[in-house]
Amino acid sequence: MRNVQNFNADWRFIPEKVAIDAPEEIFESITLPHTNKLFPRHSVDNHDYQFIATYRKRFTLSDQIAAKRLFIDFDGVMLASFVYLNGQLLGNHKGGYTPFSFEITDYAVVGENVLTVYVDATENPEIPPFGGKVDYLAFGGIYRDVFLRVVEPCHVVNVFARPINVLTAPALECDVQIAELASGLVLDTVLQDSQGHVLARTRQDVHAESLTAALSDLPPVELWTLENPALYVVSIRLYINDNLVDEVSTRVGFRAAEFSTDGSFYLNGQPLKLFGLNRHQTYPYIGAAAPARLQQLDAEILKYELGCNIVRTSHYAQSPHFINRCDEIGLLVLEEIAGWQHIGDAAWQALVLQDLEAMIKRDRNHPSIILWGVRVNESPDDDALYLCTNQIAHELDSTRQTGGIRNFIYSHFLEDVFTLNDFSEDIQTPLVRPHLITEFGGHMFPTKTWDNEERRLEHAFKHVHKHNLQMGHPDVAGAIGWCAFDYHTHQDFGSGDRICYHGVMDMDRLPKLAAYFYRSQKSPKDEVVLNAATSWTMGDRSGGGNNPLTIFSNCDEVEIVIGDHSYARIKPDTDQFPHLPHPPFIIGWSDSYNPWGTGLDDLTVRGFINGEMVAEQKIAADHVPHTLRLKASSATLYADGADMARVTVQIVDKYGNVLPYQARIARFEVAGPAELIGENPLVLMGGQGAVYLKSRHTTGDVTLRAVVDDLPSAE
Ligand code: GAL
Repeated sequence: MRNVQNFNADWRFIPEKVAIDAPEEIFESITLPHTNKLFPRHSVDNHDYQFIATYRKRFTLSDQIAAKRLFIDFDGVMLASFVYLNGQLLGNHKGGYTPFSFEITDYAVVGENVLTVYVDATENPEIPPFGGKVDYLAFGGIYRDVFLRVVEPCHVVNVFARPINVLTAPALECDVQIAELASGLVLDTVLQDSQGHVLARTRQDVHAESLTAALSDLPPVELWTLENPALYVVSIRLYINDNLVDEVSTRVGFRAAEFSTDGSFYLNGQPLKLFGLNRHQTYPYIGAAAPARLQQLDAEILKYELGCNIVRTSHYAQSPHFINRCDEIGLLVLEEIAGWQHIGDAAWQALVLQDLEAMIKRDRNHPSIILWGVRVNESPDDDALYLCTNQIAHELDSTRQTGGIRNFIYSHFLEDVFTLNDFSEDIQTPLVRPHLITEFGGHMFPTKTWDNEERRLEHAFKHVHKHNLQMGHPDVAGAIGWCAFDYHTHQDFGSGDRICYHGVMDMDRLPKLAAYFYRSQKSPKDEVVLNAATSWTMGDRSGGGNNPLTIFSNCDEVEIVIGDHSYARIKPDTDQFPHLPHPPFIIGWSDSYNPWGTGLDDLTVRGFINGEMVAEQKIAADHVPHTLRLKASSATLYADGADMARVTVQIVDKYGNVLPYQARIARFEVAGPAELIGENPLVLMGGQGAVYLKSRHTTGDVTLRAVVDDLPSAE
């Protein structure tokens, strides 16, 4: 029977290339996922991670296991890997974003085995995305999970589970690839719901290495929707003469997704305007080596805190933990191949095709994925290459359309969807449909959490305007803004500290004002949102005052109270933003409210739906730092030496509003079995910041204490 062991624990690491038999003492003990270096928050120098490191893992095999077929599966290693078992080269792999495997059956021994991986994180111009300039950092290391996979000689190699006729007569077809056929081989395919109830089953004799199992006449199935992302499990079992020899399971969702030539995107037959953001996978300090929990957190932030219905995995295949979470919570995904503007020679292009194939084979069972990006982001037209990527994508996955992200409108349209980065203030219309905007904003208006309010507000309004335009445009299926989170970059980009401040959230996933606009587009049935887009000061804006005042909210009416005087009740600005589900509320008050010289009072905004008050926010006019607020993204961690929680640190007024100019120093103490990842002391920029807690290998209570002078400490 198949046995898959997580192989993340008990690695040794040394940040240099050492002999394969180098003494164990010179290595440090580490757990995957791992970054070959920890970095400061600002001014990460890409040269610092560009070296060859040695990873080593000893493991023991029993004689029972050594008689099977054995594979080492790598989910992602940045950027090139040379893998050895017991001194024998198994092979090398080029490319950091998609999985690869090596069979070790012939080299493994009963007893102790030594796996060595030389990881070369050099930005090698022969390997995508490198060769030209790249506006993001790749980092280095074995930064995703590793598994030991033990199977019988006869086993399942790959399963493509395809829900079909979803809206009429739902059925499931599973393309199964099998290794080493045997006589008396039977394939048993079982579809179960999330509670384990069997919905359908089929058994068939196996005479070929590729075959399709069809499950039709299904009882009613729940559709996978954004609100109720129902998942089912299909299990593929192989029997030889009634003995079970292999079983693999994959989750599936029954949903129909189509970009139509009428201009709209349809999910389950219903038009849906796509509203989303791009995501880079990197975090401060740890680069790309975020464990499962932080990957899941990003999906949750995009869906729940930012109200997105789609994310683009710019510009590469992202962690399986991230995509799995998108399936579970109902967040659509546009996933694309690695690269940035540059196309290399034939060998480089062969790696693009390899990356594409690996991405689609890994991810084609995910209901959340609705579109494959089959061009190197913003590369020039190359019809030979892109006819080929389109063909491969369609051959490997007949159920999904392709896009190819370009930044010039007259690019040759070889895909199914014209996916365009559109940095104009308007909507560029390519005269073809379907048309999806895959980026806007970004370098047009970088914004920091500690920029002045006018800029942060203007940044938010860039997103407001573009989404209003796209939502009102019948030829546009949706728009995916640049981008969700600030990210590390090369010296050729960014603000000088090697950071692109393009996110609607910062690198710690803490909100800028633009984030509140996104969130306010949620349905109030999911969450009532009410956020005054101001710190309510008398003299921060040019000319002073707070005119006009903007409130991002999904209420239908907002009351503005200053001190104890109710100033106005206003409606959303449908004149300026008629196409948004929830236009911002904007009030100008040149006429009757001018507290200049007379004193500023607290602001209260109240949100009403159908006349009933459903939300209230107060902002203190005194702006006195009141509380040091700590929040952990999770109350528990696995004691696996790798799990991490984000702990946000914010200086807030007496009503809980972050004070953006409190650039104060926070000091931390950790007690218990966890390691602090981050700077200590940490300068809170924009009145906020975050550190990370990483588990050790023992259980127990972890306490993080933060101290900022003159404020009560927080735990
Ligand atoms: C785009 C590019 C993104 C990012 C963005 C910044 O052209 O595709 O990766 O660099 O610009 O605005």
